[in-house]
Amino acid sequence: MVEAFAVASGKGGTGKTTTTLALGMALAKEYDVTVIDADTGMANLLFHAGLDDVEVTLHDLLVTDTDIAISEAVYERFGMSVIPCGTSLTAFAAADPAQLRAVVSTLATETDIILLDSPAAIGSKSAVLPIILADRIIVVVQPTVPSLSDGLKVQEYAHSYKTETAGVIFNRVRQDESVATIAEQASRYFGGPILAHVPERDVVRAARRQGEPLLAHAPDDIAASAFREAAASLEINDKTANAVANRFKSAVIPEQP
Ligand SMILES: Nc1ncnc2c1ncn2[C@@H]1O[C@H](COP(=O)(O)OP(=O)(O)OP(=O)(O)O)[C@@H](O)[C@H]1O
Ligand SMILES: [Mg+2]
Repeated sequence: MVEAFAVASGKGGTGKTTTTLALGMALAKEYDVTVIDADTGMANLLFHAGLDDVEVTLHDLLVTDTDIAISEAVYERFGMSVIPCGTSLTAFAAADPAQLRAVVSTLATETDIILLDSPAAIGSKSAVLPIILADRIIVVVQPTVPSLSDGLKVQEYAHSYKTETAGVIFNRVRQDESVATIAEQASRYFGGPILAHVPERDVVRAARRQGEPLLAHAPDDIAASAFREAAASLEINDKTANAVANRFKSAVIPEQP
């Protein structure tokens, strides 16, 4: 059983990477979870997961004809399998984003759930690929009209590739923000449920500074609970691993996004 989710937003800094690791840790209580930093141009998951000193990363797997095995870039951390991506621009230039398809399709046969931390924009092949490859997207937005509108653009793009919406997470919600109206609008326009409202909390930034996912750094914080609620309300679809792997193999990668 396997399903691949792209954690996407539109705008940068909404909390995709934080969300990817939080959902990953929560889902790992029940499933075998693999988290991939598919933000290959501006990778930062490695900093959130204390993996900034590792040798082999996704970049090494994306080089055409590489002889590096996928397993060399997989790190067992916080109950999950984590594939970080490096931050070198030279490595990014040498990487062929289309190879991500092969990496994901191989991993699909070995894990229950794949979470792809996705880039903010949809302006290039490397940026759109996670959304095209995923079965469904989880949209992370801040409760503001510009953020929602960007999230909707990503959703529209995803739907044009038959990638459905698993749900929406409102992140960085401040206490003084009245999100009721905006949440009501969002539930009308997004093709999936609102999975959680995660508050803006200093502890989330502190976790990032410590190089630990929130659920490891402050599992009892209300932000961590909100992410666990989001994970619990995600309905995971049952699929056979081979069906998913075959879908990845045949996914059409656009020349122009
Ligand atoms: N709920 C929250 N409360 C406080 N700070 C948060 C919250 N969620 C995320 N942050 C902080 O906001 C910053 C951006 O978060 P994160 O890196 O997860 O976003 P992103 O969408 O992945 O960004 P990018 O588009 O740059 O990849 C980080 O410093 C993170 O610690
Ligand atoms: Mg990020």
